[in-house]
Amino acid sequence: MLSIDKLNFSYGDLKVLWDIELEVHEGEIVSVVGANGAGKSTTLKNISRLVKPSSGSITFNGEKINDLESHQVVERGIVQVPEGRKIFPDMTVLENLRMGSYIKNAKKDREANVERVFSMFPRLKEREKQLGGTMSGGEQQMLAIGRGLMTNPKLLLLDEPSLGLSPLFVKIIFEIIQEINKQGVTILLVEQNVFQSLKIADRGYVLETGRVVLSGSGSDLLSNDHIKKAFLGM
Ligand SMILES: Nc1ncnc2c1ncn2[C@@H]1O[C@H](COP(=O)(O)OP(=O)(O)O)[C@@H](O)[C@H]1O
Ligand SMILES: [Mg+2]
Repeated sequence: MLSIDKLNFSYGDLKVLWDIELEVHEGEIVSVVGANGAGKSTTLKNISRLVKPSSGSITFNGEKINDLESHQVVERGIVQVPEGRKIFPDMTVLENLRMGSYIKNAKKDREANVERVFSMFPRLKEREKQLGGTMSGGEQQMLAIGRGLMTNPKLLLLDEPSLGLSPLFVKIIFEIIQEINKQGVTILLVEQNVFQSLKIADRGYVLETGRVVLSGSGSDLLSNDHIKKAFLGM
């Protein structure tokens, strides 16, 4: 579904991605793990075209998407839930969700998608009229994911959805990611929570200082000695 080939990227003079190779097959959950500053968010931003690759290619369902505008990438079905939620704090939960269905082919499904999001997140339904900014971090993350689902994604890019959440919400968010995947949405997940994200992943990649240093099935990576030492304190 998604194929990244020899992707290089620099912020000005600072080179942060080196020859990244990454694939996501339809139906998978793929996790990219790595320390703070490894280049995880930058990789997602290249896919969603918030930044432009220096070289290399990114193809989605056979189409090269390097040169598309970011709204065109969304129209193809790639939707990013950004790091730090980035919900609209002064809008209600329902208004935030409706903002997610701005593209043409999501508008017609708006009300059905609101119902779908509310059935997935009953907590959001209860808080439908509450202002986004007054909710807890975990609830805001639910809202950010819910808003992403309003855009009818085929591939959902999730940037650190569990960051800063309480253990209870971390558990809920990882369950929700699996549920969304079961409903037919392919997932590319970027996380510092190496254990949880590899546990739910079909396959994973390890990024270190802008390079893919390891890849494999989620379970193989979890039992890998380097990963155990570097990330799991074992
Ligand atoms: N807007 C930016 N301008 C300059 N450098 C940046 C910018 N965003 C990130 N970086 C740098 O790029 C590198 C990779 O960052 P990032 O992709 O955010 O890593 P991660 O998401 O894995 O924490 C880091 O060295 C970071 O300091
Ligand atoms: Mg990041």
